[in-house]
Amino acid sequence: MLEVTIRMVRPEEAGMVADIEAICFPRAEAASRESFEKRIAVFPDYFLVAETGGTIIGFINGCVTNSPVIYDEMFHDTRHHIPNGSNVSIFGLDVLPSYRKQGIATRLMQSFIQLAKRTGRKKVILTCKENLVHYYEAFGYISTGLSASTHGGSHWYDMTLNLPDDTSPLVQDR
Ligand SMILES: CC(C)(COP(=O)(O)OP(=O)(O)OC[C@H]1O[C@@H](n2cnc3c(N)ncnc32)[C@H](O)[C@@H]1OP(=O)(O)O)[C@@H](O)C(=O)NCCC(=O)NCCS
Repeated sequence: MLEVTIRMVRPEEAGMVADIEAICFPRAEAASRESFEKRIAVFPDYFLVAETGGTIIGFINGCVTNSPVIYDEMFHDTRHHIPNGSNVSIFGLDVLPSYRKQGIATRLMQSFIQLAKRTGRKKVILTCKENLVHYYEAFGYISTGLSASTHGGSHWYDMTLNLPDDTSPLVQDR
């Protein structure tokens, strides 16, 4: 079985995650290297990578907000990060194609949710295309309908995970 570590991103890894993003998303939807550099500089706390053999093969990232749903400006402007906000957004969940269907995105998502719980957030919010609504529902997310987002010219669904209070110690995910 593949040995995968889930850990926080490092500042020097912005280029690597941008390369993965360009493989995983169409050009109109993919965040740029510059955008990742800004996100990592301003809100690295909710940016986890999956690494195997010293190589990053996937990641998940988002910012903190008081908004109950994602809106497009969040993707482009780090000033929408509210450090003491109640909710955490997910901008992207990416796994390189050759590593998919082995549960790596599931581990990234579970670690992200655990992090959000441990840091006292109330909700995790994301948007996804219709074909992934069932995938996120399996984590407990609820679809609240079509998003106002037109990110990349696509239709997106708002997904919300309501978090219970959790004060248990953070488990190191390996
Ligand atoms: C969506 C994405 C992140 C999923 O990554 P992944 O690592 O393959 O995800 P998982 O392995 O956790 O689950 C994917 C599927 O594999 C299945 N799976 C998980 N472990 C498995 C295993 N060991 N053997 C076989 N199948 C497995 C899951 O049940 C799931 O099935 P489903 O599609 O029927 O729901 C990946 O496909 C991706 O990067 N896509 C492009 C970017 C994108 O669309 N991201 C989401 C934006 S909202």
